[in-house]
Amino acid sequence: MTSPFASRLGIEHPLIQAPMSGSTPPALVAAVSNAGGLGSLGAGYLEPQAILDQAAQIRALGDCPYAIGLFVLPDEFEADMAAVAKAREQLDALMVQEGVDVRTSLPARWAPRFSDQFAALCEARPAVASFAFGVISPAQLHELRQRDIYVIGTATTVAEAHAWVDGGADAVCVQGAEAGGHRGTFLHRAEDAMIGLFALLPLTVRALAAGARNVPVIAAGGIMDGNGLLAAEVLGAAASQLGTAFLTCPECSAAEAWKQDLLRADEQQVTTIRGFSGRAARGLRNRFVEAMPEAVQGLPYPVLNALTAPLRRAAAAAGRGDLLSEWCGQAAGLVRPQPAAELVARLMHECRLARRTLVS
Ligand SMILES: Cc1cc2nc3c(=O)[nH]c(=O)nc-3n(C[C@H](O)[C@H](O)[C@H](O)COP(=O)(O)O)c2cc1C
Repeated sequence: MTSPFASRLGIEHPLIQAPMSGSTPPALVAAVSNAGGLGSLGAGYLEPQAILDQAAQIRALGDCPYAIGLFVLPDEFEADMAAVAKAREQLDALMVQEGVDVRTSLPARWAPRFSDQFAALCEARPAVASFAFGVISPAQLHELRQRDIYVIGTATTVAEAHAWVDGGADAVCVQGAEAGGHRGTFLHRAEDAMIGLFALLPLTVRALAAGARNVPVIAAGGIMDGNGLLAAEVLGAAASQLGTAFLTCPECSAAEAWKQDLLRADEQQVTTIRGFSGRAARGLRNRFVEAMPEAVQGLPYPVLNALTAPLRRAAAAAGRGDLLSEWCGQAAGLVRPQPAAELVARLMHECRLARRTLVS
């Protein structure tokens, strides 16, 4: 199955493994790219040197196109230190109550500087740069163009898709409300931008088709098998981006307890959560989410994200999935644990079968 989008990027299949910050190590990215899809390194939390190191590891594992994904954020953040102190107190109390031997601490920075991450991305020069949480500047677009890096912008509404097209994106990835992980929303309140993929995808395809540039639309959210890939294609997608489907691959670095919880998850457990990071994200309703201290509710991203990071690391090490940010999409119940290359081949095989069944 080839497509103009896949041909443009020099990949075999119009299938993207989503950048999933914290869960997409080089082995996963390379396995997907070497299998003919587009593997993506989620680099939102990585310092510049780590981006360069991991990009080098991906290249060492195979000479295939891959993507690096970043969160578009300001370089500096102001935090209300009184609110931070209150949140730390309550988070630490929760850890004591749960018997996890870890306490919050103040990080040197709330998040890596975006402009430094961006410079590292340019230096690593992947085939594709993928962005969420905002639109890059014209100067940054120019930097990417000079290096022939293809730009994918994430949108959760048609207005955000227009913003990315106006900002020069080569393709727009529409993130349906079903999608796992953080909402990419940047023009609206997250709760006003929870549009299901079956609505958002054809709305965006139609809106962008009316424009001067023919910008491909990539579908993300709840796609777990070949039927889903075909459905997205029928609704006008040039490619599909899957995150949750790859979380149970052995190459994925998600904590084992998280992978196990995904196997048992039902759709009612998948909810929207702010309490881990300060930004709306989709994942499992677990013990942490139920017991979430009141004081964390008002803290913004990335301040809260930085405060809970050591707690989440300790919970993972202790096998406590119930205290982790177990991000996943609404269709998590359809995960199929298997090596990433096998999953890519299976997805494409299923898609071919579904197409044949439909036309016969
Ligand atoms: C664990 C996890 C982490 C994610 N991290 C990122 C990220 O760093 N950057 C990004 O653009 N999208 C991120 N996403 C969202 C994906 O790009 C995509 O929208 C989503 O996975 C699609 O829905 P699905 O999970 O149902 O396949 C993440 C998703 C998950 C599940």
